[in-house]
Amino acid sequence: MKVDLFATPSGIQEAFLKERTAVVIDVLRATSTITTALYNGCSKVIPVVDIEEALSIAKNYDPGTFLLGGERFAQKIEGFHLSNSPREYTRDAVEGKTIIFTTTNGTKAIRKASEARDIVIASFLNVTRVCDYIKEKGQDLAIICAGTDGRFSLEDILAAGAIASQLKNELDVKLDDLGLAGCFMYEKNRDNLAGILRNTLHYSRLVGLGFDKDIEVCLSLDTSPVVPVYRDGVNLTGVHLL
Ligand code: MLT
Repeated sequence: MKVDLFATPSGIQEAFLKERTAVVIDVLRATSTITTALYNGCSKVIPVVDIEEALSIAKNYDPGTFLLGGERFAQKIEGFHLSNSPREYTRDAVEGKTIIFTTTNGTKAIRKASEARDIVIASFLNVTRVCDYIKEKGQDLAIICAGTDGRFSLEDILAAGAIASQLKNELDVKLDDLGLAGCFMYEKNRDNLAGILRNTLHYSRLVGLGFDKDIEVCLSLDTSPVVPVYRDGVNLTGVHLL
């Protein structure tokens, strides 16, 4: 299985994705939040790029059946029900609901992946389940990191490395150079992810805004074992593998 890792979505050719499973990662915090929401029983997540698009989709839903979630500048969007903190997406808050979700980088990366044969969402919270899904599909992979404002984000590369590390222990995997780097970095730092991330851009920004607890949640391994699968270019639903 070939595994190619993209530090940001910008360099990807859509034709490259056609025969691949795309794995989209935005550890801090979009894909951790989506994973948490689906694990806690929301009926689906609709990832959208713009606030206007989110509001217009919401008009199709009866009040009480949906929640608007997401962020701009890492803060809750005015008029939305929830921010981009995984800690808000509890079972009490989300069970049975549709989440219409927009974030600065994460939901854009999901859209960018939409030409892939299969699209799944990953974070540290669901590494093992995502690997199980990938093994079952058996297709070559494009791991797409959302990055931050068009730039490489180390936390995403480490989560991609966690996936690559697990896959290469069980399959004959051919990693590209960035995949090898991510894998090596993850294996060296797996016991102290916060240590290597402490001085990185988005991590420090979130700490500055008082979101330390969110970071702790987002760096926990396999705590929300579900695979968010993007279907029909519209909805993300959760696949709970046994
Ligand atoms: C994003 O999608 O840009 C991030 O998830 C931002 C955030 O941490 O709120």
